[in-house]
Amino acid sequence: MPAPRTVLLTGAAGGLGTLMRELLPAHGYELRLLDLLPVEGEPDAITADLADKKALREAVRGVDAIIHLAGISLEASFEKILRANIEGTYNLYEAAREEGVPRVVFASSNHAVGFAPRPRGRDPLIPIDTPHRPDTFYGLSKSFGEDLAQLYWDKHGLETVSVRIGSCFPEPTSVRMLSLWMSPADGARLLHAALTAEHVGHTVVYGSSANTRLWWDLSTARALGYEPQDDSEPYAAKLIAEQGELDPANVAHAHLGGHFVSDPPIWPY
Ligand SMILES: NC(=O)c1ccc[n+]([C@@H]2O[C@H](COP(=O)([O-])OP(=O)(O)OC[C@H]3O[C@@H](n4cnc5c(N)ncnc54)[C@H](O)[C@@H]3O)[C@@H](O)[C@H]2O)c1
Repeated sequence: MPAPRTVLLTGAAGGLGTLMRELLPAHGYELRLLDLLPVEGEPDAITADLADKKALREAVRGVDAIIHLAGISLEASFEKILRANIEGTYNLYEAAREEGVPRVVFASSNHAVGFAPRPRGRDPLIPIDTPHRPDTFYGLSKSFGEDLAQLYWDKHGLETVSVRIGSCFPEPTSVRMLSLWMSPADGARLLHAALTAEHVGHTVVYGSSANTRLWWDLSTARALGYEPQDDSEPYAAKLIAEQGELDPANVAHAHLGGHFVSDPPIWPY
């Protein structure tokens, strides 16, 4: 596959979309933007709902790849998750198949496997083939997205890298995030690797920086050519002083998904 240049970025108005809009052009991409909401400062961005099949078909036409970030990014009612994340992702894959787009990079989540116990002490890192254990309907939609990606690879030869993103924010803001943090610069490096690695079929990777307190195995991400440059450790002393160490007796602290396993934040719309 020739290196992709024109990439459709769905969810471009969101937090991660905004960070990646700033960082990905330096890796050589021209971005076509799509979101349900207008994208600030981007009058050419496509304003469309993932439910709009015609708009999706037009949006994907002629692009070399898609980075699919759009959707509900917190817990919500099953009906809302079904429409935006499950049917919406299906609609996008169908549009990609119909228009012959060869590759999707799918924003999966740690919450697809949120009930995996977090490693402690000398426990091994969580492997990439740990079974799906979604912690919410939101996590369930990410498990679905990974399976959909596998189906479209096996049946239609449409490649996907599913990235189980930890927490991609400018700085880690919790003790849990010290293990899952992906700096925005590393996020862009990982997306670039996922767009350019050859013969990915359907590959699932964890998405984080090379954190000292890492909980999961980054080897499938590194195999794509991803070389993380950042580590959350410089933030550790302050966050632990403010919040204390994780308490293994607390169910939210005992699992990868954190408070999504017990009291997930709810999508506000
Ligand atoms: N930010 C993280 O650390 C993180 C961690 C794990 C997974 N993810 C995943 O990455 C993606 C982006 O995350 P984010 O933090 O930027 O979320 P976000 O909520 O800030 O952005 C999501 C964007 O999707 C758009 N959207 C929602 N429903 C849509 C629809 N039906 N049609 C078109 N657009 C729609 C929203 O308008 C929003 O701009 C999400 O899929 C999220 O689940 C993010």
